[in-house]
Amino acid sequence: MGIRFTFAAIIFLTLHTAHSSNPPFACDWSNPASKSYPFCNPKLPIPQRTKDLLSRLTLQEKLSQLVNTAPSIPRLGIPAYQWWSEALHGVGNVGPGIHFNASISSATSFPQVILSAATFDSLLWYRIGRAIGIEARAIYNAAQAQGLTFWAPNINIFRDPRWGRGQETPGEDPLLTSRYAVSYVRGLQGDSFHGRKLRGHLQASACCKHFTAYDLDNWKGVDRFLFDARVSLQDLADTYQPPFQSCVQQGGASGIMCAYNRVNGVPSCADFNLLTKTVRKKWHFRGYITSDCGAVGIIHDQQGFTKSAEEAVADVLRAGMDVECGSYLTDHAESAVLQKKVSMSEIDRALHNLFSIRMRLGLFGGNPRSLPFGMIGPNHVCSKEHQYLALEAARNGIVLLKNSPTLLPLPKTSPSISLAVIGPNANASPLTLLGNYAGPPCKFVTILQGFQHYVKNAVYHPGCDGGPKCSSAKIEQAVEVAKKVDYVVLVMGLDQSEEREERDRIHLDLPGKQLELINSVAEASKKPVILVLLCGGPVDISSAKYNHKIGGILWAGYPGELGGIALAQIIFGDHNPGGRLPVTWYPKDYIKVPMTDMRMRADPSTGYPGRTYRFYKGPKVYEFGYGLSYSKYSYEFVSVTHDKLHLNQSSTHFTVENSETVRYKLVSELGEQTCQSMSLSVTVRVQNHGSMVGKHPVLLFMRPKIQKSGNPLKQLVGFQSVVLDAGEMAHVGFAVSPCEHLSRANEAGAMIIEEGSQVLLVDDQEHPIDIIV
Ligand SMILES: *[C@@H]1O[C@H](CO)[C@@H](O)[C@H](O)[C@H]1NC(C)=O
Ligand SMILES: *[C@@H]1O[C@H](CO)[C@@H](O)[C@H](O)[C@H]1NC(C)=O
Repeated sequence: MGIRFTFAAIIFLTLHTAHSSNPPFACDWSNPASKSYPFCNPKLPIPQRTKDLLSRLTLQEKLSQLVNTAPSIPRLGIPAYQWWSEALHGVGNVGPGIHFNASISSATSFPQVILSAATFDSLLWYRIGRAIGIEARAIYNAAQAQGLTFWAPNINIFRDPRWGRGQETPGEDPLLTSRYAVSYVRGLQGDSFHGRKLRGHLQASACCKHFTAYDLDNWKGVDRFLFDARVSLQDLADTYQPPFQSCVQQGGASGIMCAYNRVNGVPSCADFNLLTKTVRKKWHFRGYITSDCGAVGIIHDQQGFTKSAEEAVADVLRAGMDVECGSYLTDHAESAVLQKKVSMSEIDRALHNLFSIRMRLGLFGGNPRSLPFGMIGPNHVCSKEHQYLALEAARNGIVLLKNSPTLLPLPKTSPSISLAVIGPNANASPLTLLGNYAGPPCKFVTILQGFQHYVKNAVYHPGCDGGPKCSSAKIEQAVEVAKKVDYVVLVMGLDQSEEREERDRIHLDLPGKQLELINSVAEASKKPVILVLLCGGPVDISSAKYNHKIGGILWAGYPGELGGIALAQIIFGDHNPGGRLPVTWYPKDYIKVPMTDMRMRADPSTGYPGRTYRFYKGPKVYEFGYGLSYSKYSYEFVSVTHDKLHLNQSSTHFTVENSETVRYKLVSELGEQTCQSMSLSVTVRVQNHGSMVGKHPVLLFMRPKIQKSGNPLKQLVGFQSVVLDAGEMAHVGFAVSPCEHLSRANEAGAMIIEEGSQVLLVDDQEHPIDIIV
């Protein structure tokens, strides 16, 4: 407890001076004209208001609104609006919509998403989203935001370990990513955790990106602007699309961003099939669709997909895109209209979608200060509560990968122990610890500072020259430092120069001389050393895993503004680690697989190994869901409502796959009601056999009893966190829906449930389920 007080003291409330200017909004009641405009009347239905507004706009005014920097329309009292703001893991200033240059100069910087994902805690993700939404409103109310539309979350599947933006995502699993999307969006937009509270009003607007099959930035000269992702209908249906469908349907997201890349030949933003037929018609999406920045221009200029700029403009509007991030439409929309390539109805549809969002945000109904969200003041930004949440997320996300022979936690009997903190990330700057898309943090604690709270005289040595690239190293000096102390923590890994937007990795090794440094220091140290990895994507650390001079390994992602504290609390036993890996850690020879190959499923005939824990059978350094704790946990299936599932309500289909007959039902034919009525309740008993309280995510998987091609090897079907005292046990309940969880896509992209035996899995415990169709 004493420790916690110490830390509470360093998280201080940023005090902001009272704001004076008003945030930008339309329909100022002090202007008599506003009162007469139906579009200004919040009591009317939104479609009626947008219709009224559109009827008052000239063609030029209409066209001017189709880009992210939408100018004002002074004669109607409509201010400028900036569609582009970022809030990936805290309100950021990467987009032009947010300014930290006045009374509010920072915002809470939560851990990079990949680390928060490792908590496997939906409620935590919701709370983070909510905190970000509240801070966003506060910043808007202080007149430091020119918009409230945020282009997060990034919910592309982390398909390949080299992807530079994998760090921004919740990982490689569609269910995990879907749950993250839903929780974040509900939180940010001001909905309740269980949804359906919103009734149209938005605290802030979230945007599911990048739709779809976007997960390559720049790999060996193949870049995202020119990449054509060849994706099978099967992989699209059960890997790439589910997070977007959940984000829209359960999350109620009000925005979607179409991606740079082509999908099966068609640029995402020009794909009517994706944007209109799938998202709007099938998923009933009611928000706006933006392009990624510059994505319209490249359709003609780089991809050569259309013959003229006007045709590119026409294609995206026809496909269903509503607003461009960029200025290609400013330059070419008018001539596209004059050439009759774009119809007025498409422009009006886009404007209806755009103004609807601004109205739902409360920006067209008088001064939004007088509305509920208008009460959110600057004291909510960087509040103690939000900063503590950032610490909690880092602490619960950090993954303990190795602890032998129970080296950790270190004794807290400071000052009697001596400690060296060595490595290129040991004293890393905010740029490294926050990860990309971060804004200015409220507060910043380095890894070294975190350790110095426990061991005042902890010594530091960077080991490498020039950061994690480590092309040269001061190994002998580092070894001398290490020899003199009781304990050594090596803080290694990557940073944004190694993995980021527009930069994929080409190998999975630790860069430069890092491994040499690790091995030399470990060899020379009195006791086994502790290795801490800061990175988003995985690295192959097999040699450290098997090196008995390395006693502990922890993965800390990019842990955010208080990550230094979180890590030290774990290493000194003030927190029991419970994070679990949200991605597979592959051995380094995995890079023989071309990053451009989008296939999820393995193809044994050509040696293609497949991707992610669901389809990749080869050796792993650490697998998806792996993570140790200072406690041992045991599990037992207590009850499963039924062991046999009779799916006799719709017709049975047959197919032959790899000369085996497969009997199955189509999920679409079973219907929603039947699907719900077949839900299984699964109860698992979990016990903490350790001596410390622990927050433990319980992961429920299923696997087919007999491996068949086309089926995942195993698949996550649920996860729940429990907090258990030393020795305590608890029951954890899961609802398993056969249609959602025991299904997979067939080659035509339809979701099916196959006949056969399946096995529910929690760690080493199994429970069989028979499906009879
Ligand atoms: C902050 O930046 C915005 C955009 O550049 C500018 O309009 C505004 O005046 C600035 N505010 C202050 C207080 O400097
Ligand atoms: C489905 O099969 C179960 C078990 O044999 C049976 O009890 C049930 O009545 C059947 N339902 C239909 C609609 O045939």
